[in-house]
Amino acid sequence: MKVAVLGAAGGIGQALSLLLKTSLPAGSELSLYDVAPVVPGVAVDLSHIPTDVKVKGFGKDDLAAALTGCDIVLIPAGVPRKPGMDRSDLFNINAGIVKALIEGVADNCPNACIGIITNPVNTTVAIAAETLKAKGVYDKNKLFGVTTLDVIRAETFVAELKGKNPADVHVPVIGGHSGTTILPLLSQVEGVEFSDEEVASLTHRIQNAGTEVVEAKAGGGSATLSMGQAAARFCLSLVKAMQGGDVVEYTYVETNSDDAEFFAHPVRLGKNGVEEILPYGELSAFEQKAKDDMLDGLRGDIKIGVEFVNG
Ligand code: 2OP
Repeated sequence: MKVAVLGAAGGIGQALSLLLKTSLPAGSELSLYDVAPVVPGVAVDLSHIPTDVKVKGFGKDDLAAALTGCDIVLIPAGVPRKPGMDRSDLFNINAGIVKALIEGVADNCPNACIGIITNPVNTTVAIAAETLKAKGVYDKNKLFGVTTLDVIRAETFVAELKGKNPADVHVPVIGGHSGTTILPLLSQVEGVEFSDEEVASLTHRIQNAGTEVVEAKAGGGSATLSMGQAAARFCLSLVKAMQGGDVVEYTYVETNSDDAEFFAHPVRLGKNGVEEILPYGELSAFEQKAKDDMLDGLRGDIKIGVEFVNG
């Protein structure tokens, strides 16, 4: 497996690269790209960890070399939020970054599976899709918005509240990756009962968990370590699936459903990315209303991305 991390010298990129260096299957290659001049140093630093994963750093002008032959490309590049900002406030800077990087993917590894982490994910995934379409290489089965952080947060918070081991808790999270578009399906968590108050407060906490970190970091950025862990989990699931394993992850993909053009669903991953988009099952009245209320916003976020590329 050859995996590229674009934006590898940033907070998410470094955490993610460390986890991949220690967890990718033996014989894998890790390509670290960043415009920040420290990236060769990050690669040398990681290369001293004794695993059978080759690490190479690529600077600003070496995007093509970083991407050639890649099976998976993960994109955390861009700027993070500061307190008071919404993910959509990052659009002006991050939209152009994602478009440029995806053009590089289209030119150098058009068959790779792509995981978008750069915010606002609701929009940047649409930008990536339109950019790939313009290049004539779009495959909807190979483009993912990484929403795994919402899932691991939901599992952590439910486990905390109910005194369980988080490893035994599974929480479906559908929709998008911003505010109310993040929709945890607490009614489907097995072996746990919630009061109406618990559902309301847990849902609110999961939806605002990113902001919880932004505020706690007080101007120093947003989630990097937990996001790195979430993205590594998603990447390793993809690797497992591409090597023939049976894996389901919740991720933001093109669905062709009535909900929105892109929507996080449970997805069976396979050798070529999405193998099957699974239904998210029955919603409680609370969840149904939350979904109905957020769909216009999510569709609007997607439209902004489409228009950014197509004018
Ligand atoms: C978060 O949810 C960084 O969007 C990321 O914290």
